[in-house]
Amino acid sequence: MSQEVHPAGSLKQHTIWQDGQMPEPCTVVIFGATGDLTQRKLLPTLAHLLHDHPLPEGFSVVAFARRPMNDEQWRGMALDSINKYMPDNDKLDREAQHDFAQRMYYCQSDFNDREGYEKLADILERLDREKGTQGNRMYYLATPPTLDSEIIFQLGGAGLARPAAGQYGDEESWTRIVIEKPFGRDLASAQKLNREIARVFHERQTYRIDHYMGKETVQNLLAFRFANGIFEPLWNQKYIDHVQIVVAESLGIGSRAEYYEEAGAIRDMVQNHIMQVLCLTTMEAPVAFDADAIRDEKVKVLRAVPLLTPEDVAKRTVRGQYTAGVINGQPQVSYKEEKGVSPASQTETYVALKLFIENWRWAEVPFYIRTGKALPKRSTEVTIQFKRVPHMLYKPAETKGLVPNRLTIRIQPDEGISLKFAAKVPGAARHLNDVDMNFSYSEAFGIESPDAYERLIADCMVGDSTLFIRRDEVETQVQVEVSKR
Ligand code: BG6
Repeated sequence: MSQEVHPAGSLKQHTIWQDGQMPEPCTVVIFGATGDLTQRKLLPTLAHLLHDHPLPEGFSVVAFARRPMNDEQWRGMALDSINKYMPDNDKLDREAQHDFAQRMYYCQSDFNDREGYEKLADILERLDREKGTQGNRMYYLATPPTLDSEIIFQLGGAGLARPAAGQYGDEESWTRIVIEKPFGRDLASAQKLNREIARVFHERQTYRIDHYMGKETVQNLLAFRFANGIFEPLWNQKYIDHVQIVVAESLGIGSRAEYYEEAGAIRDMVQNHIMQVLCLTTMEAPVAFDADAIRDEKVKVLRAVPLLTPEDVAKRTVRGQYTAGVINGQPQVSYKEEKGVSPASQTETYVALKLFIENWRWAEVPFYIRTGKALPKRSTEVTIQFKRVPHMLYKPAETKGLVPNRLTIRIQPDEGISLKFAAKVPGAARHLNDVDMNFSYSEAFGIESPDAYERLIADCMVGDSTLFIRRDEVETQVQVEVSKR
């Protein structure tokens, strides 16, 4: 493949605002500000956004959490986490750290305390006046899912959910809420949560985040399929033998036992991230590149995945749990020995299942899905295995070990795409071997990919919900999953 090669380490900064468009000034309110997600992901992402991309002057962040703290203490804590979790080549210098810290404010409150939300309203109004944030707010729920309903209810009660109306009743500012998975535990609880959200926020204000949609390589599934003429004619049950989606992780559950014991691999990975990848791999071409057209097509795929009957579960699914071992030279305790896990736990850390999509394009093509923690290697890939040629000219001895054409889309790490095909080994004998055509993101573009959270937070700031999950998508996605238990 001809491509300009950019040596590793010379990657250029990516852009984050489409067509140079900049968001309006706003305040991001993070609920659960002292938790893991905020420390590891949200603060480094916001610091990165602020440092490397133009953000409006008054951009501010308010942390809403239980722990008693003042603004100064919170600023110190936020700086500690960005220093700890930002990659070395991204670290902020002193001036940038100072700028970041000065935009941080703290609101201490219990999540069910009305007065805390009134205090928050005062802080937000003050920031509007002093920083010119114009009433624009992004609420980010980085709290355990059990608190979602309460926070949403309280935001509504304190009048914080509706954008301010302008002189003629139209919206003068924007208010958006970002909600993390899991969106409920089963269909009934997902529907309940959606109803609770809808009582307070309009669907167009609701941004359900699945960070896999923020990955460049996941978005590239659409570009690969719908901006190239050569693959789409083959992308169906006539030419494809089967599809594999693998999300293998080498880490165990770390300190997340409380959450993971309740979730397990199916709810943690399959029902959301893997379903999103499945949708983008299999959906029909949307009529336009916009939020509703794309999500309409994703929902159609989900509706075509039949529920698994108890018999299907027995025949087409495998669940497992990791035992003790060594991964990359490091000892790994068994799942049952992880801190906070019950020694009798039946929670699955590995799952493999075979699904079908019952529509014209995919009838009878098996989709093999596998995901697990504490596996030997970290690798997320979609593999499309094409059917064999109808008649092989070469003798079995000449094609020994040859696999059918296989397209592998490497979501992470070593992001890229490779196509395996047969080639004649040079020489008099007619021996064939598999060879690979390989595309690598870093070599081809020489641009570092934005972090998934950075992409999604930036999209929310400009009001683009294309990569977020719509209400009906959640409810259809959950149905695929609930039937398995
Ligand atoms: C999260 C899951 O949503 O995704 C984690 O809760 C998982 O268990 C993580 O490790 C994987 O994300 P990534 O981006 O590292 O593939």
